[in-house]
Amino acid sequence: MNVAQVALVAVGWSAGVVLLGVVAAWLLRRASLRWSAAVVALVSVGGVAVGVLGTAQAMFLSQHDLHVVITVCVVSGLLSVAVALWLGERLVRSTRRLRDAATRFGDGRPFEAPAAGPRELTDIAGELARSSDRLHEAAERERRLEQSRRELVAWVSHDLRSPLAGIRAMSEALDDGLAPDPARYRAQMRTEVDRMVRMVDDLFELSRIHAGALQLTPQTVQLADVVSEAIAAADPVARAKGVRVGGAVAGDVLVRADPDALARVVANLVMNAVRHTPSDGSVVITGQADGPTVTVAVADACGGIPADDLGRVFDVGWRGGSARTPDPDAGAGLGLAIVRGLVEAHHGRVAVQNQAPGCRFVVTIPA
Ligand SMILES: Nc1ncnc2c1ncn2[C@@H]1O[C@H](COP(=O)(O)OP(=O)(O)OP(=O)(O)O)[C@@H](O)[C@H]1O
Ligand SMILES: [Mg+2]
Repeated sequence: MNVAQVALVAVGWSAGVVLLGVVAAWLLRRASLRWSAAVVALVSVGGVAVGVLGTAQAMFLSQHDLHVVITVCVVSGLLSVAVALWLGERLVRSTRRLRDAATRFGDGRPFEAPAAGPRELTDIAGELARSSDRLHEAAERERRLEQSRRELVAWVSHDLRSPLAGIRAMSEALDDGLAPDPARYRAQMRTEVDRMVRMVDDLFELSRIHAGALQLTPQTVQLADVVSEAIAAADPVARAKGVRVGGAVAGDVLVRADPDALARVVANLVMNAVRHTPSDGSVVITGQADGPTVTVAVADACGGIPADDLGRVFDVGWRGGSARTPDPDAGAGLGLAIVRGLVEAHHGRVAVQNQAPGCRFVVTIPA
């Protein structure tokens, strides 16, 4: 036999083993990885052994040499299967560690990536760790949201309870003819009812903002008109307090926004500024176009907001001071949360900073 014939015979014999290996691998496709590793070792050594045996006559080997070759093949075959099983076992142990970590993760605990393992498995572990972090952040956000919702419900019920109790007492006094000044009682009841209606409206608006159910109809709006309407609305309160309200907005500043929403944003800011400015102080509103954006700023003379509180004024239900005192003028702490929701719905931003003699709220929205 020449070399080509030998090669052909070897291919024939080895192909048989390879075929058997493929069938075995197929049968073991759902079995543990360690068996696949063993099949790989058996096929490689078995292929060589069968090839050698099949071409033995062509090698003119003595009986003794043939035995030597067979012994070498069997020994190295056993060794490589042992190594393959050991490697397979290591792989299985790594996947088992990953599976246990994933099970703990599934039970709600944070994912702890196994310390070591093959690259593919550590890559999967890395991905799982990143998902775990994202899930953890989302759960944390959800928890904070839930807590602020619960606080809000508690505050709102508290804020509604006192005026409702007052209205009930006054209406009973009126019914019994015991009210010393019925006209004043009626006026006061009306004021309380108005305040509660405003609060319920604000809550409704806020829930629509948070649910993403806000329907904005952007139009081209003249900023000066919006600002003068807000000034006019705040005028009675400002006059009563002796607060001057003024400002400067160029007549040609146009902005694309929902007119009602923008009016509400500016009105809330101006009303807050008037409320927090002492008599004889002034509130200054400015508006201008800055390239692709339009800026409205409301500055007051409130004396500054404590630095620790600056980051919280836009939180739902937050209002200055820790106690929710039954101050008849106190709001529900919803105004600025609504401002932020509406401004962000316009893809804009709102910020606050202290600027003597008070603070300055700045709204920036795309023109
Ligand atoms: N212009 C301002 N100057 C100083 N402090 C302010 C100003 N605007 C808001 N704040 C502080 O931020 C808090 C939250 O304001 P926000 O408008 O959200 O609620 P509110 O005015 O108390 O109530 P609401 O607006 O719902 O009637 C206020 O209670 C106040 O302590
Ligand atoms: Mg307010």
